[in-house]
Amino acid sequence: MDMLKGSLFELLGTFALIFLVHAQDQSGFISIDCGISEDSSYTDQVTGIYYTSDATFIDTGISNSISPEFKTNSLPQQLWNVRSFPEGINNCYTLRPARGRGNKYLIRAQFMYGNYDAKNQLPEFDLILGVNMLESVQLDNASSVISKEIIHVLSSDYIYVCLVNTDSGIPFISALELRLLDNSMYETQSGSLVRYARWDFGSPYELIRFKDDNCDRFWFPYNSGEWKMLNTSRTIDTDDDNKLQLTSIVMSTAVKPLNTMEPLKFSWESTDPTSKFYIYLYFAEVEELQLNESREFNIFLNGNLWHGPLTPESFEATAMYRISSSISEKFEFSIYKTNSSTLPPIINALEVYLVKQLLQSQTDQKDVDAIMNIKSLYGVKKNWQGDPCAPENYSWEGLNCSYNDYNPPRIISLNLSSSRLTGNITPYISNLTLLQSLDLSQNGLNGPIPDFLSQLPLLRSLNLTGNKLTGSVPVELIERYKNGSLLLSVKSNPELCWPGSCKKKNKFVVPVVVSVTAAFIFLTTLATFWWIRRGRQEVGKVEEMDAEMDSNKRQFTYSEVLTITNNLEKVVGKGGFGTVYYGHLDGIQVAVKMLSQSSIQGYKQFQAEVNYNKFITEM
Ligand SMILES: *[C@@H]1O[C@H](CO)[C@@H](O)[C@H](O)[C@H]1NC(C)=O
Ligand SMILES: *[C@@H]1O[C@H](CO)[C@@H](O)[C@H](O)[C@H]1NC(C)=O
Ligand SMILES: *[C@@H]1O[C@H](CO)[C@@H](O)[C@H](O)[C@H]1NC(C)=O
Ligand SMILES: *[C@@H]1O[C@H](CO)[C@@H](O)[C@H](O)[C@H]1NC(C)=O
Ligand SMILES: *[C@@H]1O[C@H](CO)[C@@H](O)[C@H](O)[C@H]1NC(C)=O
Ligand SMILES: *[C@@H]1O[C@H](CO)[C@@H](O)[C@H](O)[C@H]1NC(C)=O
Ligand SMILES: *[C@@H]1O[C@H](CO)[C@@H](O)[C@H](O)[C@H]1NC(C)=O
Ligand SMILES: *[C@@H]1O[C@H](CO)[C@@H](O)[C@H](O)[C@H]1NC(C)=O
Ligand SMILES: *[C@@H]1O[C@H](CO)[C@@H](O)[C@H](O)[C@H]1NC(C)=O
Ligand SMILES: *[C@@H]1O[C@H](CO)[C@@H](O)[C@H](O)[C@H]1NC(C)=O
Repeated sequence: MDMLKGSLFELLGTFALIFLVHAQDQSGFISIDCGISEDSSYTDQVTGIYYTSDATFIDTGISNSISPEFKTNSLPQQLWNVRSFPEGINNCYTLRPARGRGNKYLIRAQFMYGNYDAKNQLPEFDLILGVNMLESVQLDNASSVISKEIIHVLSSDYIYVCLVNTDSGIPFISALELRLLDNSMYETQSGSLVRYARWDFGSPYELIRFKDDNCDRFWFPYNSGEWKMLNTSRTIDTDDDNKLQLTSIVMSTAVKPLNTMEPLKFSWESTDPTSKFYIYLYFAEVEELQLNESREFNIFLNGNLWHGPLTPESFEATAMYRISSSISEKFEFSIYKTNSSTLPPIINALEVYLVKQLLQSQTDQKDVDAIMNIKSLYGVKKNWQGDPCAPENYSWEGLNCSYNDYNPPRIISLNLSSSRLTGNITPYISNLTLLQSLDLSQNGLNGPIPDFLSQLPLLRSLNLTGNKLTGSVPVELIERYKNGSLLLSVKSNPELCWPGSCKKKNKFVVPVVVSVTAAFIFLTTLATFWWIRRGRQEVGKVEEMDAEMDSNKRQFTYSEVLTITNNLEKVVGKGGFGTVYYGHLDGIQVAVKMLSQSSIQGYKQFQAEVNYNKFITEM
């Protein structure tokens, strides 16, 4: 007992410790190692980041390990396993960070093929991060590691990360990471920032990230044969006003041109010439300057003065940033020392972000909630993953959305035809308030047609054909059908009736027509002609809808008929083809018309009358 207590205490102690570490350093992190076994997790030896399995974030895909020859000691553990998606076009992770809508995140996906499928064939596929970043994932070789990153303010409480099969191999993913950023970091007027470059000049390290960088940005070393690497062991003061949370270790290395009279040059080409870039240049003096030494330079972009003159602060970080003023195919920086400067220019770090100006927002939250509820209630078996409407052209199968520039997309049509739906028509549908078209045909839906369908203001087409709906069609839907504002289809719902024909319980409103044969009795639960009080014009009005509704046939055994009519207790009339009895069926008073075996030829005639009059209601 004591031993148990002791180990429990230890366990609790361990948890408390882990929790503390997280609370201090990794709150706002979601770190997912894709493809490791369900329920497993670990703390990365190098970074101390706590990674969990991806199983709780996705329903699809399969786990794989990379081929052993790629599993080197220096390879980060997150890259040892992958989740691949041999099925479905679009497979998505759903992440729900503790701080959702309105918060800024760095979202990163990592990929390393590592011949996990033993096919030695590099796949190519698309990645959707949030809804604004749609990029193709192209790997150079089996050991190259690709990471895609976006800085994005959440417009809803969910983030979707989707892998899209583009017919060029099976999509896969190695790791998925979310890092909460301060909203004041990387401010933009609009849009999200896709990482284009993040260079740590003069760095001798492979990669700098957490814990050196609180935000776990990846800083890649960047050097050139024409440059001299500089470094200092002194800590760089990064407590700047820019709230960029710069990192001393990144700022403590820099480069200068080997030929001190030459400018410092670097450039990149735009893969997206229609987009602008946010450019951040970082400087800090890392050399101890003598009294007779000075460093001052001007920064030119594509031949135009971008900033200057600038003198980096001694062991203190300075950030210069701005959005590129023009769209360009090539961005070429040249940093020239000024005439008075005795020392050549330097640079410590750079970040370049592609601005996704055409901000596409996520689907309206209320629509998302409604469709998610519909999905889980009916257990919809379609490949419904990610955002229902976004990105445009990637909306879920079976629904269409409206898009306009600044409003979130809305669901305007829903087609769940032949989707094996059962149960009632769910009220969740009423929250899809912009619905124009609803197709629920060919399912097993039962219960009444709910009134809320007639409250959907824009509904123009409603198809409920081929279900087991009961009760009567709401009057308002019929009104809208009659005046041509609604295309209504309710065929093949055997127990559905028109208003009045099955509602009133105290009258003979659901007559039962019986044909007695040797083995069973055929009953049709329809209104029959002798209760017609209305004239023929009335009949004409509903005739057109007649086409949309089949005759409602049910078969009863003879003994059931005896039960319904209480052993043919009460005769209420006699027609041309047989006797009519009074009865009770499912709590409704019915008239049972018996068709005698001897008058089979009368049956057809009788049926014709029944069909013609089946919607006539008033007694
Ligand atoms: C794989 O591609 C990367 C670039 O992504 C390159 O640096 C590396 O040398 C390549 N490795 C092999 C084995 O070809
Ligand atoms: C820093 O620079 C010195 C002198 O150039 C060099 O010997 C040393 O290896 C560098 N240290 C790092 C960590 O780059
Ligand atoms: C600065 O002064 C030192 C001696 O104190 C001298 O060696 C050096 O050449 C001078 N540098 C320049 C740029 O004049
Ligand atoms: C710097 O020197 C160059 C030639 O040495 C001269 O053409 C230029 O005008 C000078 N610039 C300034 C700002 O004095
Ligand atoms: C969606 O597809 C249509 C037709 O292919 C195209 O015109 C439109 O630009 C696409 N929209 C987006 C956002 O890609
Ligand atoms: C969505 O729009 C397409 C093209 O207009 C159409 O073919 C399709 O039937 C629509 N889907 C639904 C569910 O209305
Ligand atoms: C719904 O989808 C089915 C096929 O899945 C199609 O036959 C039907 O026309 C669609 N309905 C609408 C309203 O687009
Ligand atoms: C519709 O949305 C509102 C607000 O989001 C919610 O309170 C309500 O429960 C939803 N109704 C249904 C039937 O889901
Ligand atoms: C309703 O759905 C059925 C079956 O899916 C189809 O045959 C019928 O044409 C649809 N009616 C309308 C008006 O779209
Ligand atoms: C059709 O009837 C509905 C319900 O009575 C009404 O709301 C709608 O305005 C009518 N539309 C037209 C075009 O008359």
